Amino acid sequence: MIRLEGIVQTYHGAQGPVQALRGVDLHVPRGQVFGVIGRSGAGKSSLVRTINLLNRPTSGRVVVDGRELGALSGAELRAARREIGMIFQHFNLLDSRTVFGNVALPLELAGVPRSQIRARVDALLDLVGLSALRDRHPAQISGGQKQRVGIARALANQPKVLLSDEATSALDPETTRSILGLLRQINREFGLTIVLITHQMQVIKQVAEQVAVIEAGRIVEQGAVIDVFTRPEHATTRSLIDEILPQTLPEGVLERIRTFMAAHPADPGRLLRLAYAGDGGDQPLLSDVVRRFGVDLNIVHGQVDEIQGRPFGSLAVHARGAGPAIADAVDHLRGAGVWVREEAFAHA
Ligand SMILES: Nc1ncnc2c1ncn2[C@@H]1O[C@H](COP(=O)(O)OP(=O)(O)O)[C@@H](O)[C@H]1O
Ligand SMILES: [Mg+2]
Repeated sequence: MIRLEGIVQTYHGAQGPVQALRGVDLHVPRGQVFGVIGRSGAGKSSLVRTINLLNRPTSGRVVVDGRELGALSGAELRAARREIGMIFQHFNLLDSRTVFGNVALPLELAGVPRSQIRARVDALLDLVGLSALRDRHPAQISGGQKQRVGIARALANQPKVLLSDEATSALDPETTRSILGLLRQINREFGLTIVLITHQMQVIKQVAEQVAVIEAGRIVEQGAVIDVFTRPEHATTRSLIDEILPQTLPEGVLERIRTFMAAHPADPGRLLRLAYAGDGGDQPLLSDVVRRFGVDLNIVHGQVDEIQGRPFGSLAVHARGAGPAIADAVDHLRGAGVWVREEAFAHA
C-alpha cells in the first residue's frame, strides 16, 4: 500500500544541514497497522510527513496505492492527499469550530454538498462515540475526546491510509488504550492501512502487527511485532522493549549467580535468555528439559505476557548441571522454537 524507497531528508537549519532521514526503505502492506518507533529526534515525524508529502524528501520515492506522489500535479496531489488521513499529538483542532464543525471542515474543503455533509458527520461522530458532544467546542472536551474528533475528521474523506504521529502521547494510559482500541476497530471495519508513529513500546505492543525501529534517520530493525519482542537484535530495540519488558538483570540477581558460580567452579552453569511466543505449551517444555537432560532451569528473572492474544515470554534462567547436558538442553529448546541466547553477564 505504501512504499518508501531511498528516502533522504535534509533540512537546512540555522546551524547548517540536518540529515533527518538517511535512506529509508519501507513497505507497509495494505490493511496493516504498521508501527514505527524511535526516540525523540530519530526522524519519525519527518518520515511520516513524507508519506503525504507534507515534507518533500530531498531524494527518494514515495508510492501510495500504486501512485508515485512526487510525480503528481498539484491537483492530483491534492486528490491523493484526501485518501491519506492524519492525526496528531496535539489534535490540531480549530478552537472556533464545534466538534461537528471540525469534522465537517475537510468535507467543506473537498466541495461536498451541505446536504451530504450533515449525514456524513453524524455517522462519523457516532462511530467515534461523540454524538452527544457535537455542539461543544474543543475547550469543553477532554484530551481523549479531542483525539476522537481528530480521528473522525481524518476519516471524513474516506481515506485508504491513516497516519498517526504520536496520537496518544499526550494522553493517560487508560485513554491511550481506548484510542488505540478505536484505531484497531477502524482498521478492521474499513480495512484502513494505519501507520502509527510512537516512542512508546506499549503502543506498539497493543495495536501494531509489524514494527520498524528508527534511529538517527535509519531503520535499524523491523519485523512482526511478536518476533521483534521475543528476539530483539538491535541495542535500541532492546532498550525500548526494556521499558515494558525488562531485559536487564537487577544487580542483586547477578550477584547471587556470581556467588553460585564461584562456589561451583567445575559446573558453574550458564545464564541464558529464553524467549518464546506461542500457544502456552512453554511450561511443559521447560519441565521436560529438566527431566530429560538432568539440567535445572532456575528462572531468575523475566516476564510472561501477551501480544494481541498470543502469549510470549522472556525469561532469564540460570541453567545448572554438567556442561554437555546444558548444551544438549539448549539444542532441544532451540529445536522446539525457543530463542536462546547467552545472557550478557560479567563474571566477577
Ligand atoms: N524543519 C526542520 N528544520 C531543521 N531541522 C529539523 C526540522 N524538522 C526536524 N528537524 C530535525 O530533524 C531531526 C528529526 O526530527 P523529527 O523527524 O521531528 O524526529 P522525531 O519525530 O523522531 O522526534 C531532528 O534532529 C530535528 O531537530
Ligand atoms: Mg515527532
